[in-house]
Amino acid sequence: MEIRKVGVVGAGTMGSGIAQAFAVAGYDVVMQDIKDEFVQRGLTTIRKSLERVASKGKMSADDVAAALGRIRPSVTLDPLADCDLVVEAALENVDLKTQLFRKLDGICKDGAILASNTSSISLTRIAAATTRPTHVVGMHFFNPVPLMKLVEVIRALQTDDEVIRAVEEVSRKIGKTPHVVKDSYGFVVNRVLIPMINEGINCLYEGLAQPEDIDDTMKLGANHPMGPLALADLIGLDIVLNVMETLYQGFEDPKYRPSPLLKQMVDAGYLGRKTGRGFFRYDQA
Ligand code: CAA
Repeated sequence: MEIRKVGVVGAGTMGSGIAQAFAVAGYDVVMQDIKDEFVQRGLTTIRKSLERVASKGKMSADDVAAALGRIRPSVTLDPLADCDLVVEAALENVDLKTQLFRKLDGICKDGAILASNTSSISLTRIAAATTRPTHVVGMHFFNPVPLMKLVEVIRALQTDDEVIRAVEEVSRKIGKTPHVVKDSYGFVVNRVLIPMINEGINCLYEGLAQPEDIDDTMKLGANHPMGPLALADLIGLDIVLNVMETLYQGFEDPKYRPSPLLKQMVDAGYLGRKTGRGFFRYDQA
């Protein structure tokens, strides 16, 4: 199973990061989103990220231009027809994802692998929505994609071994380290990481300390590169809540109860960096 051309559905934070990783590694990429302004914003994010790398002398201006030139923007799914691999990074909504996978299944050529970057939705369920469940797999990237080395490769109940091997290989080719994980709520990273963040939010909710202090204790006391509240702001509070709800409903275990403060922050629209305000304030949305 050779992968040459890659489609990315969704040009947001994760989708644009994923498209960037493939384009830098020499793959032809179609980056699709539903509105031209979303695709253009994704391209701008990629350009800025590559220019940052180039400004450190880690990439030449020609290589930046070549990587950007390998990304074909699209507002329809049709150009994904001849892709060997499609990575979906759309919104975390189960109905939207199953509908999207049904569409991709109808459009993409036989043998193409359909991957989802979902952080919490069952891959087994997504696979079952298609006529090619053996070729559906999870490729879970981490934010910020250009810097984070891991790809959690999620094996749905139906996924073929050959598909797992192909996805592991392509992950290595784009400079990432794959680890294969069985399909389960939150997989491994989010099952460990997101409840820890939720506890950080509970510490704030219960008035144990100020946000800066909570984050500093975890940086200094546990050697984390950033504190749980700043990390929640980076990930997006809506995503953090989404994962907690998936764990809580999936395992039916009260230990995964989302923090009331997390719910309130999401209700208020304080979603973190992307809205300019979360537990901390940011200059721009
Ligand atoms: N593109 C390209 N290069 C970038 C970049 C970008 N978007 N962002 C930063 N860089 C470069 C910088 O220019 C810098 O380069 P030099 O070392 O050459 O100077 C380097 O990367 C480090 O940048 P910073 O000094 O700004 O960053 P840092 O050292 O403070 O690290 C961090 C930043 C990697 C985000 C670090 O704080 C970290 O690892 N945080 C934790 C992130 C994490 O846990 N992510 C997982 C979230 S969970 C998830 O994503 C899954 C989910 O489903 C919810």
